[in-house]
Amino acid sequence: MIPQSFIQELLGRVDIVDVVDRHVKLKRSGANYMACCPFHTEKTPSFTVSPTKQFYHCFGCGAHGTAVGFLMEYGGMGFVDAVKDLAQSVGLKVPDTRPEAAQRQEKQGDDLYAVMLRAAQYYRTQLKSAPAAVAYLKARGLSGEIAKRFGIGYAPDGWQNLASVYSDYEGKAPAAAGLVKQSEDGRRYDVFRNRIVFPIVDVRGNVIGFGGRVLGEGEPKYLNSPETPVFEKGRELYGLYQARRAIRDAGRVVVVEGYMDVVALAQSGVEYAVATLGTATTPQHVQKLLRQSDEVVFCFDGDEAGRRAAWRALEVSLAQLQDGKQVRFLFLPQGEDPDTYVRRHGKDGFEALLAGNAVALSRFLLEELSQRGDLATAEGRAKCVHEAKPLLKSVRATVLRVQLVRELAERCRMSPEEVGQVCELAPAAAKLRAPEARYPRAEPASLAHKLLGLLVSNPALADRVSTEQRSWLDAPEFTPVAELLDVLRESGASSPATLFEATRDSRYVKLYEDAAAESLAGAMEEEVALADLAGALSKLELERVRSEYERLTAGGARNDAERKRAQELLRRLAELKGASGAGAQTRM
Ligand code: UTP
Ligand code: MN
Repeated sequence: MIPQSFIQELLGRVDIVDVVDRHVKLKRSGANYMACCPFHTEKTPSFTVSPTKQFYHCFGCGAHGTAVGFLMEYGGMGFVDAVKDLAQSVGLKVPDTRPEAAQRQEKQGDDLYAVMLRAAQYYRTQLKSAPAAVAYLKARGLSGEIAKRFGIGYAPDGWQNLASVYSDYEGKAPAAAGLVKQSEDGRRYDVFRNRIVFPIVDVRGNVIGFGGRVLGEGEPKYLNSPETPVFEKGRELYGLYQARRAIRDAGRVVVVEGYMDVVALAQSGVEYAVATLGTATTPQHVQKLLRQSDEVVFCFDGDEAGRRAAWRALEVSLAQLQDGKQVRFLFLPQGEDPDTYVRRHGKDGFEALLAGNAVALSRFLLEELSQRGDLATAEGRAKCVHEAKPLLKSVRATVLRVQLVRELAERCRMSPEEVGQVCELAPAAAKLRAPEARYPRAEPASLAHKLLGLLVSNPALADRVSTEQRSWLDAPEFTPVAELLDVLRESGASSPATLFEATRDSRYVKLYEDAAAESLAGAMEEEVALADLAGALSKLELERVRSEYERLTAGGARNDAERKRAQELLRRLAELKGASGAGAQTRM
């Protein structure tokens, strides 16, 4: 857990303009900065960064958020990584509340990055003076440019080349990084020798491991770095760092099996491919991929092993999929891998195959299941439904599940309800209700909407709402406003950026983001905002007073207390009407 107070401090120190500008060159335009949006393809800039609000917003595609949000979206980082990245950029250290052992491990991690980086630099330099290695890469169709893009290097032959790189070759660090091993007689030696090396880079751009290929034939064909505190194979995807921009532009990411597949695809212009690192697809992989793109295509060899690997990818995808996201499977023709295919058929050929042959997850699922039981027999159909049960139960995307159930039911000659019962699925109807309350957008903008916009763009205004006024927000339509007020007061968030972090876990976060984006478009002076808030609050009071008055008089104000209350209300009503009329005039 990163303490809220640190996030507040951090967001107070970073400037979103610097953060964004490091990745997307910004141009000043009035009070804001503009660029062509990195989140969709466009020719004229509609991506705006506001230094005063510390928000970015694209008027074209609606992308918006804080500096943290930008790094998460653009860099594909998780929240913690984004915070760390920002902290590093302003020289802050994220306070560590974890046990000491874990802290030691992290310290070691920092060292490992440095060790890895030096090795990568060394290997890259060595490639230049290794004609055989260069020839090998050329023969595989790679240009110098692509080699550079992926930082491809060469580990020369010889047992202790890295001794010239690390003064503490015999020390802990090179061994902890997995670059050096110890033989039985206690002598140290380099792990990568006479191999092409592919650096594995994390989403922050740190080198965290290597894959090394023999030049030509030899065993093992690929040698990979062992897992270390900074390198977990089940989390990393080779080439993701380089592919991010292209993934966004293409609106899709292709997942292949090998280093060379990624590199060869990029060489042919298919730059949106990444590879798992010789491991089966994990939930973390799928999460990472779906964060980058709405469409993920797993590309496997057409053989039995490929189908098994695809099934595994399907199993983990089912639980990760959200409605609106798509996972597809592409099986290559026998004997081909993406590298050979794209070299033979080019970018267009590969993309045509993708368009024509990639099957939707639902289809792959149902076809595989159908093959497991003979659907012409009752027993076969029962087996099919039985095997579907754990799979269907794991699906969280409601619409997808409804569709899968419906199709499975058809194939197995049951009703969808029966399939639901047999598989012990919760009734879909209950789940189909939107989990997150959308805001009622009355025309003209409802009072609640107005209050929300004001608070989101000027969080400091939260202190100007009295406890009594807070108590007026008891109707359901005001719940998001009331919750926001409470969070703001509790966290002391005083800028839109800090507000956003403070409300990250709120069920209304989407609502707040929308309001923030909207308010960025119509930014206003603090004084005007304050006057607006006063106006909105008196309107709120007016409506309450009026309805209470109407209730009382409709009931015929039966006793003295009621009559007195009605009098009071009437007076207040007159005051409020006068005030709101005057307010409206001054703002004309
Ligand atoms: P492949 O055997 O399909 O090799 O391994 P490839 O990608 O086609 O490689 P080239 O084209 O012959 O150079 C796919 C992936 O499996 C892992 C690597 O990650 C590789 O990219 N692998 C393979 C290993 O880790 N070790 C091996 O010995 C072989
Ligand atoms: Mn290959």
